[in-house]
Amino acid sequence: VSERPLGVAVVGLGYWGPNLLRNLVELEAAEVVRICDVREDVLAAYLRRYPALRATTRYDAVLNDRDVEAVVIATPVSTHFDLARAALEAGKHVFVEKPLASSSAEARELVDLADGAGLVLMPGHTFLYSPPVVLIREMIERGDLGEIYFISSSRVNLGLHQSDVSVVWDLGPHDFSILRWWLGESPSSVSALSRACVIPGTPDVAFVSLQYPSGTIAQIELAWLAPSKLRRTAVVGSERMVVYDDTSTEPVRVFNSGASFRDPESFGEYQLSYRTGDIVSPRVDPVEPLFRQMEDFRKAILHRCEPRSAARLGLDVVETIEAVELALGRSAAPFARSTAR
Ligand SMILES: NC(=O)c1ccc[n+]([C@@H]2O[C@H](COP(=O)([O-])OP(=O)(O)OC[C@H]3O[C@@H](n4cnc5c(N)ncnc54)[C@H](O)[C@@H]3O)[C@@H](O)[C@H]2O)c1
Repeated sequence: VSERPLGVAVVGLGYWGPNLLRNLVELEAAEVVRICDVREDVLAAYLRRYPALRATTRYDAVLNDRDVEAVVIATPVSTHFDLARAALEAGKHVFVEKPLASSSAEARELVDLADGAGLVLMPGHTFLYSPPVVLIREMIERGDLGEIYFISSSRVNLGLHQSDVSVVWDLGPHDFSILRWWLGESPSSVSALSRACVIPGTPDVAFVSLQYPSGTIAQIELAWLAPSKLRRTAVVGSERMVVYDDTSTEPVRVFNSGASFRDPESFGEYQLSYRTGDIVSPRVDPVEPLFRQMEDFRKAILHRCEPRSAARLGLDVVETIEAVELALGRSAAPFARSTAR
């Protein structure tokens, strides 16, 4: 097993790609050898900053470069499948931004291709490397929260409207990947409402409800149209409750609160009691999630193991999005107004 730096190419240097590039440049175990974007002006700007890099507008030049062992793709969602497939077919390991592909059929094909070739395929579910998310997963695993009754999440802000996908494809992968990892299960049923408020045909607000085999239910609000930025998830368990607020200086707050209920033993009253205890704000690691994510990609290639943000988890996320889209096509129960007034 080689310990020399992994030769990487970063493809797509729009809004997000430069963050991946910066973290890869900082990662000692990797060496960015090439950058690629269809836009010359974008490449010129990064060449000024990183003069040692080779830049190209041609993706086949990346795939034909033997120094490139892994390709990191941060292009629009509609291009993920073609670019990732071509890289796997050229024998390169692939990191591809979320969502893994634009359909579960495409995502499955990529998973099979990577498996067959013994290559790492990793979707960019960044939040699985975010210290508050990791902390809450550990609490759930230890049973600190008890049975998870429900989860309610808001991921809303003003912008950025995407041209090729709806808000469900853009912001949904964050919550769907976090829930998949926390709960260790896929939803068993989905219902949803959405509306295209600004661009006709491109929903910019969605309310998604998920039900899990264990009984947990979840409500997720996603929007590019909101008065202020919210990144807040509440997890309500039988033992404790947690609020994860990614915009706060105290991103995780654990409430030792709950309620219990006992059936009457005789013909007496039901016994219901509420408990409000200490609120604890645990210290969270200040590390940048993207750095941990790129480290995990490097580690998965070196040891031929699954990264935490595994290809199958990425496929599960795409399947969840498809289930949401299907649910959006179904009509909700009509409100039957009483005629007797
Ligand atoms: N993990 C996260 O938190 C996070 C955050 C934002 C965006 N993203 C993801 O990153 C990806 C890119 O999003 P963005 O907002 O940066 O988009 P963007 O449109 O700002 O940038 C995309 C770049 O890719 C280039 N490009 C397009 N097609 C190409 C091709 N065939 N070959 C080479 N370059 C090509 C474009 O010229 C552009 O510079 C999306 O998949 C998005 O979901 C992830």
